[in-house]
Amino acid sequence: MRIDIITVLPEMIEQTLNTSILARAQAKGLVEIHLHQLRDYSTNKWRRVDDYPFGGEPGMVMCVEPIERAIEHLKAEREYDEIIYTSPDGEQFNQSVANELSLMNNMIILCGHYKGIDQRVRDHLITREISIGDYVLTGGELAAAVMSDAIVRLIPGAIGDAGSALNDTFQDNLLAPPIYSRPADYKGWKVPEILLSGNDAKIAEWRMNQAVERTRRLRPDLLREK
Ligand code: ADE
Repeated sequence: MRIDIITVLPEMIEQTLNTSILARAQAKGLVEIHLHQLRDYSTNKWRRVDDYPFGGEPGMVMCVEPIERAIEHLKAEREYDEIIYTSPDGEQFNQSVANELSLMNNMIILCGHYKGIDQRVRDHLITREISIGDYVLTGGELAAAVMSDAIVRLIPGAIGDAGSALNDTFQDNLLAPPIYSRPADYKGWKVPEILLSGNDAKIAEWRMNQAVERTRRLRPDLLREK
């Protein structure tokens, strides 16, 4: 997989994308993540990528030209499955969107900024608009990092225990059951007896019941979604 992120603030997420599991997945050759400075595609001598909106609205708008130049530069090298724009008015990012995107070969993520981007970019270049939640960030960089993190960890081989991504909270529209480690008794705070029993079938049944009970209590909306 290859993720190309186009942004005016690559330094905002560079370290995040090169730390821990994302760094290891890249070192193992499972994914390539490339950051592109949008200003490099400006034809303006001050490297500007924004301008005033037509119609007298306040704020600035990201212009079509540098964005189209950046996207076309990448598209000349390879085919892309999706060209994503991060925006609070996009479709809601969730585990199922992460699963779907983890199966793609190549994607571009364009990070929004200022008041937004010229609508013609959205009409003619973008294939998908994604929001990471109902709140407004200062830009799309953190959204791009969040999505990349959630997507990359799903690539087979990215996380140590192959089973563990499948057991995640949300993977079956269920929250994950509680987990415990040693000691079995910490100052009287005890680990549930069943987990020490060695009875795998009973443990699996307990985990499932806990997951359903936890979901019913904390996120009943997930059970209704099915
Ligand atoms: N840009 C600003 N806010 C955002 C959000 N909630 N999701 C994705 N991109 C954004």
